[in-house]
Amino acid sequence: MSEPLRLGIAGLGTVGVGIVRIVQKHQALLAARAGRPITISAVCARSRTKNRDIDLSDYAWEDDPVALAKRDDVDVFVEVMGGHDGPAKDATEAAIDAGKDVVSANKALLAIHGQALAEAAEAAGRVIRFEAAVAGGIPVVKALTEGLAGNDITRVMGVMNGSCNYILTRMEDAGLSYEAVFDEANQLGYLEADPELDVGGIDAAHKLALLSSIAFGTQVDFDSVELDGIGAITIEDIRQAADMGFKIKLLGVAQLTGRGLEQRMSPCLVPDTSPLGRLEGGTNMVVLEGDAVNQIVLRGPGAGEGPTASAVMGDIMDIARGHRMTTFGQPAKTLRKARAARAAVPAPYYLRMQLIDKPGALAKVAHALGEAGISIDRMRQYGHDDAAAPVLIVTHKTTRTALEEAFADFNTTGVVTGDPVAIRIEAV
Ligand code: NAP
Ligand code: HSE
Repeated sequence: MSEPLRLGIAGLGTVGVGIVRIVQKHQALLAARAGRPITISAVCARSRTKNRDIDLSDYAWEDDPVALAKRDDVDVFVEVMGGHDGPAKDATEAAIDAGKDVVSANKALLAIHGQALAEAAEAAGRVIRFEAAVAGGIPVVKALTEGLAGNDITRVMGVMNGSCNYILTRMEDAGLSYEAVFDEANQLGYLEADPELDVGGIDAAHKLALLSSIAFGTQVDFDSVELDGIGAITIEDIRQAADMGFKIKLLGVAQLTGRGLEQRMSPCLVPDTSPLGRLEGGTNMVVLEGDAVNQIVLRGPGAGEGPTASAVMGDIMDIARGHRMTTFGQPAKTLRKARAARAAVPAPYYLRMQLIDKPGALAKVAHALGEAGISIDRMRQYGHDDAAAPVLIVTHKTTRTALEEAFADFNTTGVVTGDPVAIRIEAV
């Protein structure tokens, strides 16, 4: 059997421990499949004394991830610490400089520095793989870079943050408020250390930006993702959506049109009978559309020790087998800088606003919508108290730009209190 492939694992949290477990449990199976043993030379974390419920006694310990990345007995640097700057970036760069391949689960790092890292790696003849960074256990990066390589990809869409999907489905199932479920999810350890990464849509937008790059041959452009989190969604929105036959999902959509690269991550209403509408809990779903394949749907666990480590191991096995794919499916130098375009495909919208309860209030809102060219499909007032009336409006197809014009006008009416909420109704 050939020389072993020797790993250096930086990070021994949820994902790092999962990788160690797989390497230990499936030693023979991995060696048989790769044609060479997969071994761990050294590991690194912040605390050397923390009990991690795994046997690390065979591995060298490094306190510094950069030192780990440079070790002579490491072939592949596995970065599972997290963070888009600091140690994760320094150690990844050090690994490339030292001639190591890199496997990472770090979507933040790659969404922000992916282009520079990929160029550096390719110039040095090294690879960076990141299957685990997008949709956890779902092999979506492999599907796009390999299985669908013969397609002109027309659209990428999906639910890519398990925590948000958990919160939205739990609110509906238990009839609980956003705040109550957010606290529950935090206590259960479902949310990132900075929960805004999850509920603000940032984590999912990192993932969408990575997929866009592979799908459209463009440089990763996280900054131009139109981003809206789930923090404004109320249990009443979820109930009203259910009444109309919809579920609310944090949905990412990316497409390259004649106007440029459109990327948006925002709560959307999707039909409750659609595959996306039926997605429960922390499960992710990615829909890929190509000119030859038409549409494929990938569904699976988006996070957690086993699923994420499974994806990391897939990348490690590719490297062990000598399969050396470029980071974004084509040489990084050939990726185009796409012009960012605002998502302009019109859609119906669900609007919720709070009106001062006085004669003519509704008429003023209807007038502002009309002036912006927005036609009302349905309207409902509910849960009315003495001072204010929550009003729901479903529009006919319109654009975000027209809605913003109407919302600016709402401010001058003197009857709309607080910020209106607009949720796109997506045909999926
Ligand atoms: P985690 O449980 O918080 O673990 C992070 C690990 O990194 C810990 O072992 C920590 O050490 C170590 N670490 C942090 N800073 C360090 C430093 N400066 N030097 C050395 N070690 C350091 O994180 P995780 O959930 O495993 O996530 C790791 C990466 O995978 C992140 O990029 C995350 O976004 C990504 N990811 C995670 C999931 C998931 O389901 N968890 C899914 C997909 C992708 P200590 O243990 O000593 O504190
Ligand atoms: N916070 C992420 C999620 C972890 O909830 O999907 C996996 O990337």
